[in-house]
Amino acid sequence: MDKRDAVSSSDFIDIDPVVFCENETEIASKSNQEEKESQESVEKCEEARHKKVRMQSSEEDLGDGLKILTLKPCPISVGTSLENFPDSKESPVIRSSNGCYLSSGESGSMVEDAWDRLKKSFVFFKGKPVGTLAAVDPSVEALNYNQVFVRDFVPSGLACLMKDPPESEIVKNFLLKTLHLQGWEKRIDNFTLGEGVMPASFKVLYGEKETLVADFGGSAIGRVAPVDSGFWWIILLRSYTKRTRDYALESLPEVQRGMKLILNLCLSDGFDTFPTLLCADGCSMIDRRMGIYGYPIEIQALFYFALRCARQMLKPERGGKELIERIDKRITALSYHIQNYYWLDFTQLNNIYRYKTEEYSHTAVNKFNVIPESIPDWVFDFMPLRGGYLIGNVSPARMDFRWFLVGNCIAILSSLATPAQATAIMDLVEERWDDLIGEMPLKVTYPALEGHEWRIVTGFDPKNTRWSYHNGGSWPVLLWLLTAACIKIGRPQIAKRAIELAEQRLSRDGWPEYYDGKTGRYVGKQARKNQTWSIAGYLMAKLMIENPANLLIISMEEDKKIAKPRLTRAASF
Ligand code: GLC
Repeated sequence: MDKRDAVSSSDFIDIDPVVFCENETEIASKSNQEEKESQESVEKCEEARHKKVRMQSSEEDLGDGLKILTLKPCPISVGTSLENFPDSKESPVIRSSNGCYLSSGESGSMVEDAWDRLKKSFVFFKGKPVGTLAAVDPSVEALNYNQVFVRDFVPSGLACLMKDPPESEIVKNFLLKTLHLQGWEKRIDNFTLGEGVMPASFKVLYGEKETLVADFGGSAIGRVAPVDSGFWWIILLRSYTKRTRDYALESLPEVQRGMKLILNLCLSDGFDTFPTLLCADGCSMIDRRMGIYGYPIEIQALFYFALRCARQMLKPERGGKELIERIDKRITALSYHIQNYYWLDFTQLNNIYRYKTEEYSHTAVNKFNVIPESIPDWVFDFMPLRGGYLIGNVSPARMDFRWFLVGNCIAILSSLATPAQATAIMDLVEERWDDLIGEMPLKVTYPALEGHEWRIVTGFDPKNTRWSYHNGGSWPVLLWLLTAACIKIGRPQIAKRAIELAEQRLSRDGWPEYYDGKTGRYVGKQARKNQTWSIAGYLMAKLMIENPANLLIISMEEDKKIAKPRLTRAASF
């Protein structure tokens, strides 16, 4: 039994929520009506300060600012602070935005069904649960969906941790098993991969003896190593520790070594002029050619998150001190770079539109020599006056203006995005609800690549045709990321709306992997049913909405030591 299991309910403590209110200048610039609403919210902030939130946590558990439950009321949002958020246990029916009703009983049985299915996806090695299958769908050829994917296990593991009481054994076994796999020699043809590379997936072979096989990218379509696996592994290790207080695991020499190996892959000196990490296409959740090569936000945000998690867990012994110093420098440089150069809102778009080119010297405004004519037409229509987001990629003469959900939500959860940016990202989700959420949450990327661009960028990929799969498809698993980000900035109502949408169809459609179409109306052409992370993502979203304190297991507060960007840009900034 781990330490957390031994904690009794008397360990629950009362803590003060800290509520961020908008500053006076921001409030002053709003219309009268908004001002009135702002004022009401400010008053609610004051009220909330005096209230107590009951949280399952303890004083010493709350390093990293976790004494704080960050609740940010948004005066001009459909969202509201958690103080006003009805406890779903109390509301007899959930009303969906299109008028359909799902009773709390139905929603409850959907949750039960989801747990049943999640349990059925457990994979055992020598009698112990070590992960979950990507999908349990006997109707189609399994390909590699009968494997345990590292990234897919994250929502499964987090759901198990958020459960009360937590089911932490599977998470611990998974962390140790994948660590063991990291130690394998990784050879593709005659080339050996870096020691720190974590597998994309693994499988248990049941014969006379049970054995494991792992894929580090050698068998994957396109032969790309998963850059995200190692980062997710570090992030999950921190969540496990946070929830269980089993500090013994992260302190094990082999666990410390595994972390160092992952970080050494990313922190070595080279030819880079940017603090971001150079990546091949297909190295993350989007594991096919989709034009994300370069410095994709998906990976940069995970990189930042993993650095901050590792910073908390690394011990200074055995070379750790020097690594910690490198981490600190990288965290500062990376956050500056992303907050400044990836940020796009109306004002910044207008700045780029008016950029001069061919500027030489360090005083250049157009640092990457982006040619304004390369801005795609859709961005001008898509960009609302209120809101903004971190764009997909920035490199010499290239800005990929596409929206990527994982990168933006991870930037919020890890506090890579400033509080003002985090709020603006949620504003954008609200303003562009039909595009980004549509009929089934949520678009993994927006917009889809079409026609000539699709042919050139994806290499005619028939699985990634427009508005399908990674190319503008809708992925229910992403619900957990949206929910966590919404709760973090105090606008759970947005997540609640999205969850209600998912509840109308997800279970009835058999928990598909993804949906197709501009609004995500159709079950994806090649979508697996009973896709485990669609199930686990839904469960996590419910667990966080019902008990927002669960957010603390995954989220990270702002690091006050990190310098704020010097450039001020838009009104939403
Ligand atoms: C697909 C997805 C990938 C996922 C895998 C298993 O390849 O693109 O992100 O990990 O399926 O579900």
